[in-house]
Amino acid sequence: MRQMKLTAFCNPPGHWRMPGALPIDMEFEANVRFAQVAERGLMDMVFYQDSAAVAPAFYLSGGKAEALAEAAKCVRLEPLTMLAALATVTKHIGLISTATTTYNDPFNIARKFATIDHISRGRAGWNLVTSQNVDEAQNFSHDKHMDHSLRYERAQEFYDVVTGLWDSWEDDAIIRDHATGRYIDPAKLHVLNHVGKHFSVRGPLNVARPPQGYPIIAQAGSSNPGRELAARTADVVFTAQVDLAEAQAFYADLKSRTARYGRSPDHIKIMPGIRYVLGGTEREARDRYEMMLAEASDDHALASVQRLAGGLDLRQFPQDGPLPDLPPSNAAVARQKMLIDLARRENLSIRQLGRRFTFSLGHMVVVGTPEMLADFMTEWFTNNAADGFTMLSPYYPAPLEDFVGEVIPILQRRGLYRSDYEGATLRENLGVPFRSNRHLGAGLAAIA
Ligand SMILES: Cc1cc2nc3c(=O)[nH]c(=O)nc-3n(C[C@H](O)[C@H](O)[C@H](O)COP(=O)(O)O)c2cc1C
Repeated sequence: MRQMKLTAFCNPPGHWRMPGALPIDMEFEANVRFAQVAERGLMDMVFYQDSAAVAPAFYLSGGKAEALAEAAKCVRLEPLTMLAALATVTKHIGLISTATTTYNDPFNIARKFATIDHISRGRAGWNLVTSQNVDEAQNFSHDKHMDHSLRYERAQEFYDVVTGLWDSWEDDAIIRDHATGRYIDPAKLHVLNHVGKHFSVRGPLNVARPPQGYPIIAQAGSSNPGRELAARTADVVFTAQVDLAEAQAFYADLKSRTARYGRSPDHIKIMPGIRYVLGGTEREARDRYEMMLAEASDDHALASVQRLAGGLDLRQFPQDGPLPDLPPSNAAVARQKMLIDLARRENLSIRQLGRRFTFSLGHMVVVGTPEMLADFMTEWFTNNAADGFTMLSPYYPAPLEDFVGEVIPILQRRGLYRSDYEGATLRENLGVPFRSNRHLGAGLAAIA
């Protein structure tokens, strides 16, 4: 029976005032607990979202820095460093983090993820993004965020360079033969010599080939170029979907695109996000949800809409009036469409939209009992809308502990979820193939 895959998503928690919420943004111990709870639930991976700028920097330029006083998303530990540390206190769970292709160089990224894959013995994954936070630009010597289409063009080449570097060494190139004194087999070393529009990289990488061949590649852009990049490169796709029919269409579209790249649709796992609030009764869950919605100030709520406003300052419009027409966003094309659709569909004012979006982050929201959440997941999973889900906790770790303790057993009883990890590496657990070295044939031919 096909079984669902599960990701525990981590970002700095908006709802840090909830009873029992730990400061996961800056305290390593809170992250250890988070990862170990997810591992206790046999979840496939923890996933650290990331951005290299204080959010919302919008307030810094708007002369309203005091609004940052409540924004718990200001600070965070750097996630790749975090994954390396978490690798030493976990055994099975996959360790994924975002790293942007817009404000990095491929050699550094190839080297770091290869290292995390070695440290964790095959549990690393890279969420390859084009940066949705426009404020990153000014931290990397740019005046403004690079154009959406250029960012994706760069991302495609970035991927080619990174994977080319991971293929620098064949899997058995390091021999360390004491008898002969040969440390490496030079026939199994491949210099990249990449020269392209965005990058010139000679290589080879100074890390041996990662245990998974390539660490897991995740993609989270839903625009047309985002989907195309995913179809070519991704093992996992994170996405925000709020409607079953639309999620099914997205799922079918992305799976059908893989054929163009000679890939099997089964080898790309689509995992929509679910923002969940659990309670012993539906009433209890609703009360908890209302408490979190009420927590954010108007300024804070507005920021989540503002970042997708295409540069229009929404403070100049009546907050109880409708969302004005927005110029196209250069930050996140698909997410902006989702925001506008929600405002129009439910006839929300700017204020109401802010409150809803600051909680949902644009994802599906499920509020209810463990049984209700399990039913929702079952419906989407068995109706070709998802291969699994990205569970977005509003704070840490209590909601994830409830999910692991109360929802996962229901899914297991239904036969929809594993009762033990299947393999040793993240690829094995996800059921996606080891990536062979592109030089394998050539290397063997050279020896023969
Ligand atoms: C679950 C999820 C997680 C994401 N995490 C990040 C992230 O950590 N950093 C980032 O810059 N963008 C993140 N994104 C945004 C996308 O990766 C993408 O860069 C952005 O949406 C623009 O692409 P698009 O216009 O193709 O949608 C995430 C999206 C989703 C659905």
